[in-house]
Amino acid sequence: MKESFTPGPGRERELRTALGAFATGVTVVTCRDETGPLGFTANSFTSVSLDPPLLLWCPAVASPRHDAFVSTQHFSVHVLEAQQLQLSERFAVEARNFDGVDWREGPNGTPQISGCLTRFDCRHFAAHGAGDHTIVLGLVEKVEHTPGVPLVFALGAYGRFASSL
Ligand SMILES: Cc1cc2nc3c(=O)[nH]c(=O)nc-3n(C[C@H](O)[C@H](O)[C@H](O)COP(=O)(O)O)c2cc1C
Repeated sequence: MKESFTPGPGRERELRTALGAFATGVTVVTCRDETGPLGFTANSFTSVSLDPPLLLWCPAVASPRHDAFVSTQHFSVHVLEAQQLQLSERFAVEARNFDGVDWREGPNGTPQISGCLTRFDCRHFAAHGAGDHTIVLGLVEKVEHTPGVPLVFALGAYGRFASSL
């Protein structure tokens, strides 16, 4: 059923549903602070610029992980493969629990998770306040890429990318 509305107080659910029609991949962003490694499931990831190579993602200001990810000088964005649904679910609820996750420490101590389609190792480029989220821009310093089937998130649910229509 077609719906038309003006976003505002009380309309958050409808806005979320409308935004959910935009299918995305799923990423886990990692960084390290003085306490240890952190992960954050995010589908706000977007490529921004090829020259210089820039990407962005948006952590919620209300998240207890927000400040660590906005202030870190180094972070890695991991694009998840279709079979990595559990990683998405884990880092949607856990920040610091890497138990059982296959990962190693990259340069600067940033966690690098194995088995992802692409990993972008980034240096903090800029951060811009944007309502209840912050836009974090990263300058991509290194890329690791393996071909595979991307995990997809749309309509509030997970799927796997299928190239046929
Ligand atoms: C598929 C998926 C994508 C998400 N993308 C984002 C995102 O881009 N930005 C964000 O702030 N939270 C995003 N979240 C929510 C966070 O991963 C996390 O669940 C939320 O911040 C609540 O946990 P916290 O309060 O411990 O941070 C996403 C969750 C899922 C499952």
